[in-house]
Amino acid sequence: MINLEPFKEIIYVTRPVFPTIEEVTEKLRDIWEAKWLTNNGPQHTMLEHELKTFLKVPYLSLFNNGTIALMVACQSLRLSGEVITTPFTFAATPHVLSWNNITPIFCDIDAETMNIDADKIESMITPHTTAILAVHVFGTPCDVEKIQEVADRYGLRVVYDAAHAFGVEIGERGVGTFGDISMFSFHATKLYHTVEGGALVHGNEHLKARIDLLKNFGIKNEEEVVMPGINGKLDEIRAAIGRIMLNYVEAERQKRIRLHEIYNEELADVEGVKLMPNCAADVKLNYQYYVVRIDENVFGRSRDFVYDEFRNYNVFARKYFHPLCSEFTCYRQLNSARVENLPVANVIGQQVLSLPMYGDLTEDEVRKICAILKSFKR
Ligand SMILES: Cc1ncc(COP(=O)(O)O)c(C=O)c1O
Repeated sequence: MINLEPFKEIIYVTRPVFPTIEEVTEKLRDIWEAKWLTNNGPQHTMLEHELKTFLKVPYLSLFNNGTIALMVACQSLRLSGEVITTPFTFAATPHVLSWNNITPIFCDIDAETMNIDADKIESMITPHTTAILAVHVFGTPCDVEKIQEVADRYGLRVVYDAAHAFGVEIGERGVGTFGDISMFSFHATKLYHTVEGGALVHGNEHLKARIDLLKNFGIKNEEEVVMPGINGKLDEIRAAIGRIMLNYVEAERQKRIRLHEIYNEELADVEGVKLMPNCAADVKLNYQYYVVRIDENVFGRSRDFVYDEFRNYNVFARKYFHPLCSEFTCYRQLNSARVENLPVANVIGQQVLSLPMYGDLTEDEVRKICAILKSFKR
């Protein structure tokens, strides 16, 4: 029998992976000796190279965060008008469109993968549509083939928000090789991080030059500024931490695989608790998140009840993603944001709950979290 007393200390939904202080100190010494803190220093150059290999992508540009990276992606492809995207994502996804003076058009999501429903994209295309901005939600790849097929038919660009999909592969191809550009986030809460940071990846040499200009104020040389760029640069200290963190990714992923297995084992037979989607056999996942869906009609308790009650046990889960972006005050007036246009997303937004997932979580803690969840069932 598992003791169902509250945890003594709060179990947060995630915990950043920390390198050892010694490793960081050693790298800081290198930076101090080089006397180079930012603007394309040696750590930055080496990290770009190492990440390109790790992510199996031809071109990569580092950024100070994923949001600025995605804003630059829109600028680099000269997107305008309307861009079709998902309401089931983090606020940054539609916000980068707004910052580019582009209207986000929300398309409903697939009931299994929770990604944009590729079969519904076509019906949302208008003469103003310039691109599809899809998100590999929780690291589950989108239907990349179907999305590309629609995009090709209508001459649209495809941008992927791959913030959750570091290291994900489809048939041994890096997930970042699909579409025109993909963005990765290296925020501290991600499987791989540079404290804050991000990257754009793609397969186009000319685009790399344009992206690198855009992230550095459009400055070409001391005499020429050729476009209205922004400051998207990643500094040497974060780049150095990113180089260290690359050595931690696979071990962290393996620990999370084990915890996923335990969650799946413990929750498999609980009626009203839907587990994460199964992916095709050739998909390599990163196991960054563990997300369930609570069906109140079957479980007898709502997701909100579970979320609140977990807190009494010191389990801090997250309603990720709730509210939907289509419910934000800045977007809810859009026609595409209406509830009747997004039936699947509106159900999932009420059901979804992200459970604690990080390598330092113990197997016993996961079993106890599951036992607490099961005790809520009516
Ligand atoms: C789906 C998604 N898109 C974009 C972002 C923004 O990335 P960043 O925090 O690096 O700016 C996040 C971030 O956490 C995210 O989860």
